[in-house]
Amino acid sequence: MRNVRAAARLICNGQLVAFPTETVYGLGASAYNAGAVREIFRVKGRPLDNPLIVHLWSLDQVHLLAREVPLMFWLLAREFMPGPLTLVVKKARRVPALVTAGLSTVALRMPDHPIARILLKQANVPVVAPSANLSGRPSPTAAQHVKEDLDGKVAAILDGGRCKIGVESTVLDITRRVPVILRPGGVTKEQIEEALRMKVRTARHSQNRPSSPGMKYRHYAPRAEVVLFEGEPSAIRRAMKQTMRAMSAHGIKVGVLYEERGRRAFGASRFFSLGNEGVTSAAQNLFAGFRQLDKKGVDVILCQGFPEELMGRALMNRLRKAAGRRVRVG
Ligand code: TXA
Ligand code: MG
Repeated sequence: MRNVRAAARLICNGQLVAFPTETVYGLGASAYNAGAVREIFRVKGRPLDNPLIVHLWSLDQVHLLAREVPLMFWLLAREFMPGPLTLVVKKARRVPALVTAGLSTVALRMPDHPIARILLKQANVPVVAPSANLSGRPSPTAAQHVKEDLDGKVAAILDGGRCKIGVESTVLDITRRVPVILRPGGVTKEQIEEALRMKVRTARHSQNRPSSPGMKYRHYAPRAEVVLFEGEPSAIRRAMKQTMRAMSAHGIKVGVLYEERGRRAFGASRFFSLGNEGVTSAAQNLFAGFRQLDKKGVDVILCQGFPEELMGRALMNRLRKAAGRRVRVG
């Protein structure tokens, strides 16, 4: 579907519309329409205890959804809204419990993609939007990925090309004195600390007590087993090559996710390039790589690890969640 105006009408009529954002594609519904919100959980196969992010096009909408808006909200909004940052604040009573999975807080984000912005403006209601994938599958970074998972199950899919960032927004809880990163993402810890002029914490997730409910579920995983190699770059490359050879010799179909410069060394057939701009292009390409190698029917995906700084934090967070096995080298 190309017509954003028609898509906005669908949302107002309680239908589901998939749309591009700068991070990943979202599956949108009116936050005020309980039936539509319930349908999102059903279509995705998403557990009901995993709350949704409410998407806004204007900061004027914040007071409709939040009960308390701390000063930190405005400091961060000035820098990163629109942008890949989601802020968790105390919720207003009118936000349906289904949206927040019964929590007393609500997550707010203003995406920075022209199609998303026009859609949200024309719909003129707050729009809940989880990533537009089936629960447990890699997030979609192209309209084709949404089609693979949700074709025929949603009213419309807006095509906005490939997503610029490729991993989801950073989720930051600002209901406490010291903010806590619940999910690393498109805005880095360093950027947040600079905007607030203070250190922030990063949540450690245990299976039992997740501070962001979504983090306890297995995520972002391709069907193939992912083996993640971490350590010194040249040692990673050597270890991946050895593993590829040994596994292939045993008839295992091996896929490789590695930067462009490894294409020759790893052989072309089941290689998916993570680009040549370090963590930035790796984040852009990661989820597409998972899906592409799955389509090639590989048994195992060997994946390069990256340094854990800046966007590398979000990237490694997604990789560790996807990986069945981690190998330390060097
Ligand atoms: O980049 C993104 O954030 C994308 C695009 C479409 O905007 N959306 C996205 O939504 O990734 P989803 O539903 O896949 O992930 C939302 C995350 C989950 O980990 C969820 O638990 C957390 O945000 N979350 C939502 N509301 C929350 C709340 N009130 N408190 C804590 N965590 C919350
Ligand atoms: Mg998701």
